[in-house]
Amino acid sequence: MNKRVLVTGGCGYIGSHTCVELAEAGFEPIIVDNLSNSEKIALEGVEKILGRKIEFIKADCCDAAAMEEIFEKYDFSSIIHFAAFKAVGESVSKPLDYYRNNLGSLINMLSLMRKHNVPNIVFSSSATVYGQADVLPVTERTPRKEATSPYGSTKQMCEDILHSCSVAYPKINVIALRYFNPIGAHPSALIGELPRGVPNNLIPFVTQTAAGIRPMLSIFGNDYNTPDGTCIRDYIDVTDLAKAHVCAVNRMIEGTGHSNYEVFNVGTGRGVSTLEVVQTFERVNNLKLNWKFADRREGDIESVWADTTYANEELGWKAIMPLDETLRNAWRWQQYIDSQKK
Ligand code: UFG
Repeated sequence: MNKRVLVTGGCGYIGSHTCVELAEAGFEPIIVDNLSNSEKIALEGVEKILGRKIEFIKADCCDAAAMEEIFEKYDFSSIIHFAAFKAVGESVSKPLDYYRNNLGSLINMLSLMRKHNVPNIVFSSSATVYGQADVLPVTERTPRKEATSPYGSTKQMCEDILHSCSVAYPKINVIALRYFNPIGAHPSALIGELPRGVPNNLIPFVTQTAAGIRPMLSIFGNDYNTPDGTCIRDYIDVTDLAKAHVCAVNRMIEGTGHSNYEVFNVGTGRGVSTLEVVQTFERVNNLKLNWKFADRREGDIESVWADTTYANEELGWKAIMPLDETLRNAWRWQQYIDSQKK
C-alpha cells in the first residue's frame, strides 16, 4: 500500500504533531512548509521523537510550479492540508492575504490532485464555521452561521470548494475535520505551539505568563451567561487531534466512508470555561498565575462545544487525554523552549 502522505504546513503546531502520529502509524509523511509561521525546530523535534529523518521541502503551496515539481517527484496516497493563515484578528486587517493564501493553496492542491491522481485530502477546518450556535453541543448537522472574520470565511469557503469538487470529481475523497480548541503539546515536550509575538490564544498566553514573559493574563469577560461568567470552549489535546487525522486518512484509503465528502467534529465533547482552564493550569502545575478579569474580547462567542458522537462512531476515534495532563504538557513545553533560548 502507498503510505506516502503530503503534509502541507507540517512544521506548524497541529501539522508537526500529526507527522509524529502518521509516522508511528506506519505512514511516510512528506512535509511541505514555507516556514512563514513555523520554525524548522518543529521538524527537528519530530525527528527526535521518531528517531529518524522526515522528508521536508521548503515551498509555498500557492506556488503552482514548485508544487507541480513535488507532485511529479512523489506519488502521494493522500494529502493533509494544514497550510493556512489562522489569526482571526489579523485576517480582519489583511483580508486579501487570507483569501489569497487560504483559498489559493487549496485550489492548487485540488488541481494537482486531479492532474496526478491523488485521491484523498484531509482539510483543517474549524469550529469557527458554527459561530454562536443556537443549540449546544454542535453536531455536524448544526447549520453554519455567517462568518464573523475573513479567517472564518476562508474556512467556510474552503469547505464549499471541497464539496463542489467532491461532486464534480467523484474520484476525489474529502474529509473536513472541524477542530475545536487545540491545546497542549506532545508528551515528550519536544514539539508544541510556537506563537510569534504576543499570543492570541489562551494557552500560550497562560504559559508565557507563568514563565514571566507576559506580566499578566487577562480573562476576557466574566459577565457571560455561563456558570462562572467566562466563555466556554471545547479544548482538545493536540495529540488526540493529530490522531484524528490518521483515522481520516485510513478511512479514505480503506474506502469505508459513506460518501466522498465527509465532515467530522474533532473535540472532546466537553465544554470548559476559561476560568476553569486557568485554575486547572495552576493546580496541576502547582503554581500561581498572575491573572485578572478584563473586558470581553470583540468577536468572541460565548460558548461552543462539540457533539463528537459521529466522529467517535464513524472514525473510530475518541479524545482520551485528560485536561490535567494536557495542561502539564503545555507547561513542560514552555519550559523546554525557554531553556533552548538560554
Ligand atoms: N482568552 C482569554 N485571554 C486570552 C486569550 C483568550 O480570556 O489572553 C479566552 C477567549 O476570550 C476565549 C477563550 O479564552 O473565551 C479561548 O480563546 P482562544 O483565542 O484560545 O480561542 P478561540 O476560541 O477564540 O479561537 C479558536 C481558534 C480559532 C477558531 C476559533 C473558533 O483559535 O482559530 O477557536 O473555532 F476560529
